Amino acid sequence: MPTTHTRRYVLAARPATTTGPLEDGVLRYEDHAPVPAVQDGQVLVRVAWLSLDVATRGWMNDVRNYLPPAPLGEAMRALGAGVVTQSRHPDFAAGDRVSGLLGWQEHAVVDGSTLRKVPEGVPLQAALHVLGISGQTAWLGLHDIGRPAPGETVVVTAAAGAVGSLAVQLAVAAGARVIGVAGTPEKCALVRELGAVDCVDYREQDVATAIAELAPDRVDVVFDNVGGAMLDALLPHLAVKARVVLCGAVSRYREGGPAPLRNWFHLLPNRVRMEGFIYLDHADRFDEVEADLLPRVRAGELRCQEHVLDGLKAAPDGIRLLLTGTNHGKALVKLG
Ligand SMILES: NC(=O)c1ccc[n+]([C@@H]2O[C@H](COP(=O)([O-])OP(=O)(O)OC[C@H]3O[C@@H](n4cnc5c(N)ncnc54)[C@H](OP(=O)(O)O)[C@@H]3O)[C@@H](O)[C@H]2O)c1
Repeated sequence: MPTTHTRRYVLAARPATTTGPLEDGVLRYEDHAPVPAVQDGQVLVRVAWLSLDVATRGWMNDVRNYLPPAPLGEAMRALGAGVVTQSRHPDFAAGDRVSGLLGWQEHAVVDGSTLRKVPEGVPLQAALHVLGISGQTAWLGLHDIGRPAPGETVVVTAAAGAVGSLAVQLAVAAGARVIGVAGTPEKCALVRELGAVDCVDYREQDVATAIAELAPDRVDVVFDNVGGAMLDALLPHLAVKARVVLCGAVSRYREGGPAPLRNWFHLLPNRVRMEGFIYLDHADRFDEVEADLLPRVRAGELRCQEHVLDGLKAAPDGIRLLLTGTNHGKALVKLG
């Protein structure tokens, strides 16, 4: 029997404000939404895992971003992983494990050209973290922009999170001396376990003072996931020719408003390069990055902690976890 209906969360209205909690009515839960018939070039996927991402909150707004706003009246945009149940695309067959933009729904009809196959020998959800958005982002940001040389000092912010923890491990593997910044003693302990020489608990310690002590010879690379005051506190500690990887600005999604960089002048005399990037721009390199990550994942050399929420109805709360720092690792929703 072909699947005819799905449970889903539809983006029903734009939030009243561009940051902060969502009011009622922004997302609408539907118990029995019709699944469209599969057309040529499309596949039907039974979604098993959803990726919860900091950017999701921004996609709900009617604001120019690196992607257009998520469309109203459709399943909320999200990466997911699942199994093909019907295919009219030559590259896919029923039973294939795939990942892509599947949306907050249990069954998704999508263009096959937008999907990636999940390699054998890894759990399906790895396509949403270490082999997917988090791993690709950490790898591209660190190796293309940060380019740490052995012995250089790298600071990673939100270091216990999905992207951050992978950036820590990749930088350690590259021979760098890594210092993390994270929000609790438990998160800092994890970051040290992953190979960082130390980790600053920014809720308990003054970041600038701690970094000055831990990196007396200054910092060569900052891999920044937070932005705002955290990034500003790091700028006076940069070495000559340092690289700042602008990966994320999670503080902005929660707090909003302008976040002035008071210490920007340190960039000039130190000839610092500060560069933002969006991993989606590098889709032509995903195979190359995956080829480097996959053996390390299979060998157990790269870890990504998972924070799993159960069932589609948990998805909206998952976004709140990311913005309050109460997630421990990659935030995922496991569907029934
Ligand atoms: N450039 C790209 O292409 C790209 C792609 C994917 C993700 N990203 C970015 O990468 C970053 C990490 O994403 P992720 O999915 O791996 O999430 P994550 O790090 O697993 O979760 C977000 C973490 O950010 C920290 N945080 C939240 N608010 C904060 C604040 N105001 N100040 C300091 N820390 C705060 C929290 O940890 P603590 O407990 O340590 O505070 C929270 O657990 C995000 O900024 C995301 O937008 C960028």
